[in-house]
Amino acid sequence: MKLTTSGFTVWLAAGAMLAAAGVTHAQPETAGSLYQKECGTCHMAYPAEFLPSRSWQKLLTTLDEHFGENAELAPEDVQALQGYLEANAADSGDNRRGRKMLQGIDARQTPLRISLLPYFVRKHDEVPERMSIGNPEVKSMSRCDSCHTRAREGSFSEREVHIPGYRDWED
Ligand code: HEC
Ligand code: HEC
Repeated sequence: MKLTTSGFTVWLAAGAMLAAAGVTHAQPETAGSLYQKECGTCHMAYPAEFLPSRSWQKLLTTLDEHFGENAELAPEDVQALQGYLEANAADSGDNRRGRKMLQGIDARQTPLRISLLPYFVRKHDEVPERMSIGNPEVKSMSRCDSCHTRAREGSFSEREVHIPGYRDWED
């Protein structure tokens, strides 16, 4: 979704929509809303804390060749997203969930997929293929929200997992 209006207008519109819907967010800031809007259409807007800053940087500078799609954005939007993603990245500040996601990732590596991180793979290795990539309602591990019912709110607790076509996930 390419928006040609100024970032300011976009923010006001998104803010007004959220306010009208009664949505409250932990971080109701400008760039957070822009992120949801620009990076949450083809797939959910992935939590910034699941990849390190250098990964977001690389993703934002290669949007014209984004996993086989063209996801290019206006330069001012890229800049705003960069600030937001870096401030909330796995390696920024005191981020416990982020630190976990980075387990086994060396500072010289720049992963572009959360779904290929060693921590992610380990957490999902009990999920059989027929329930995941072989499941017509899931197809890809990148579609977190098809199994994690509250993924869009940033919540990934095992208790909230529901795999489409199967009984609730139990350990
Ligand atoms: C035009 C559609 C489109 C838009 C817009 C888009 N993406 Fe994607 N993105 C994709 C596709 C397609 C994939 C690969 C999904 C798959 O393998 O199932 C993907 C995958 C990803 C992944 C890897 C997911 C994983 O497997 O861990 C990340 C991270 C990502 N996108 C970030 C972004 C960011 C950041 C933005 C906004 C700047 C964005 N995307 C906007 C289409 C899009
Ligand atoms: C096919 C369904 C499915 C998809 C798609 C999926 N997950 Fe999961 N996820 C699970 C299941 C099931 C578990 C619990 C595994 C267990 O019980 O050992 C889990 C566990 C997790 C955990 C650990 C939770 C905890 O409390 O320890 C995280 C974090 C997580 N997933 C994140 C993601 C993210 C991010 C994505 C998308 C990039 C994703 N998942 C995609 C099914 C899925």
